[in-house]
Amino acid sequence: MMRIGVLASGRGSNLQALIEAWKLGELNGELVAVGSDHEEALALKRAEEAGIPHGAFPLSRFSSRQEQEKAILTWLREQKVEILVLAGFMRVLSKEFLQDIQIPVLNIHPSLLPSFQGLHAQRQALDYGVKISGCTVHFVDEGLDSGPIIAQEAVPVLPGDTEDSLSARILEAEHRLYPEAVGWVVGGRIKRNGRIVVKL
Ligand code: GRF
Repeated sequence: MMRIGVLASGRGSNLQALIEAWKLGELNGELVAVGSDHEEALALKRAEEAGIPHGAFPLSRFSSRQEQEKAILTWLREQKVEILVLAGFMRVLSKEFLQDIQIPVLNIHPSLLPSFQGLHAQRQALDYGVKISGCTVHFVDEGLDSGPIIAQEAVPVLPGDTEDSLSARILEAEHRLYPEAVGWVVGGRIKRNGRIVVKL
């Protein structure tokens, strides 16, 4: 059973979807650690309720971002995490962190990458006028939302959509796609050749 760690900054609805998939035995691994950079994150309460070891690493407790990242890395190692899943973690992890961690790191982004990287992806999609958006699960590399793509789900943009209504429709897709894609990676069901990720 592969040991899965999650980092989340806020609401944690994707974490909840992962918890539910895990309880149904659909993750091919176990959730063993949930970390957050916000002490008050709902994600930490969800971890607590699910009985998952959790830790808060607010920047205010450290002398620098580097020290904060070091503490997170040390803790993930103590928990023997073998794959790291970012679920609404609002910090861009440094090059050093990603080099040091030496395990796969996954993220979910609320657009069809490479369109609309960075913050407010749903608003960017609305402002651009695309008719289809969606979500993307990808490996994290040193760039912003630029790593190899594992899975995507398309979602229509409907006339009259607001940022909230589009975000809610994309979020439903996220909750389906993320546990599925994490299950593929954890279960060794993907092959990676440079940027190209193939599901076996
Ligand atoms: C999601 O839209 C995810 O795609 C993005 O941050 C949001 C996190 O939501 N990376 P939640 O905390 O999982 O509810």
